Amino acid sequence: MNDQNTDIYAPEFVADLFDRCSSSYRRWSSVSSFGFVSLWRHQCVARLIAASNPRPVIVDLMAGTGEVWPYLLRRFPDLDTVCALDISHRMHLEAVDRLHGEYADRITHIEADALQTDLPANHADLLVSTFGLKTFNPEQQTELAKQIARILKPGGGFALIEASDPKGWALRPLYRFYLDKVLPTVERYFLRGANDFSMIGTYTRNFGDCAEMADALKAAGLEVTSRSHFFGCATSVAGTKPIVQF
Ligand SMILES: C[S@@+](CC[C@H](N)C(=O)[O-])C[C@H]1O[C@@H](n2cnc3c(N)ncnc32)[C@H](O)[C@@H]1O
Repeated sequence: MNDQNTDIYAPEFVADLFDRCSSSYRRWSSVSSFGFVSLWRHQCVARLIAASNPRPVIVDLMAGTGEVWPYLLRRFPDLDTVCALDISHRMHLEAVDRLHGEYADRITHIEADALQTDLPANHADLLVSTFGLKTFNPEQQTELAKQIARILKPGGGFALIEASDPKGWALRPLYRFYLDKVLPTVERYFLRGANDFSMIGTYTRNFGDCAEMADALKAAGLEVTSRSHFFGCATSVAGTKPIVQF
C-alpha cells in the first residue's frame, strides 16, 4: 500500500514490497504475462556475448527468486559462480528454497542494494538483470549504470531486460487495459485485497522503456545496443565494457 507522500523508489519501500510478493512472485509473473517472461529471460541471456573465460563469473543483479539461473546454466554449463544480488530478504529465501542440489554450490547470495554494493571492481565476466530495472528512477538508473561499469571486467558483457510500455503499438490500449484494470482486479480477488503486484504495473508505466538506461550505460563508458521484444512490451540493452588500450 502507498499514499501520495510515499517514495516508491526508496530502497526500503521496494524491499518491503518484494518481501510481500515473494511467495507468489514466480507463479504470478509467469501466469500474468502468459509465459512471456520466460521467453524474455531466455532472449536476455542469449544477448550476452560469449565470455572469453570458459568458466565465467556471472553477476545477476536484482536476482529475485533466481528465475534466470536455469537459462544461464544451460548456456554456460561450466560457469564458475552466479553471484545473486537482491535487496529483498524473502526473495532470497524463496530462491534458496527451490535451488536444486546440483547447482546450489555455484550460487552466491548477496542481500544488498544494487546502488551501493561493495562487489569488487572488475569482478564479473558477465552481468545479467531480468525485470529488475523498473524500480529505479532516472537518477538511480544513472547510479546503477556506473555500478555495472565498475563491476564488469574489461571485455565483459552484460544484458538487461525489462517489461516496457509499447508506445505506438496498435494494441497498446488493450494491453494497458489488461495491465491497469484486469490484473489489479484479479489480484484483489485472488490475493485477498493485496495490491502489491499492481504496484509493479505502476513502476512499469513510469519506467517506459530501456532508452534512459541505455543512455546511462553509454555515459558510464559501456558499448550498448538496444532491442525491442514483442512490439515493445519488453526492451533490452546489451553490450560490453571496452578493453582500454594504452
Ligand atoms: C521483478 S523482480 C525480478 C526478479 C528476477 N530477476 C526475475 O527475472 O524474475 C525485481 C527484483 O529486484 C529487486 N530489487 C529492487 N530494487 C533493488 C535494489 N535497489 N537492489 C537490489 N535488488 C533490488 C527486488 O527485490 C526484486 O526481487
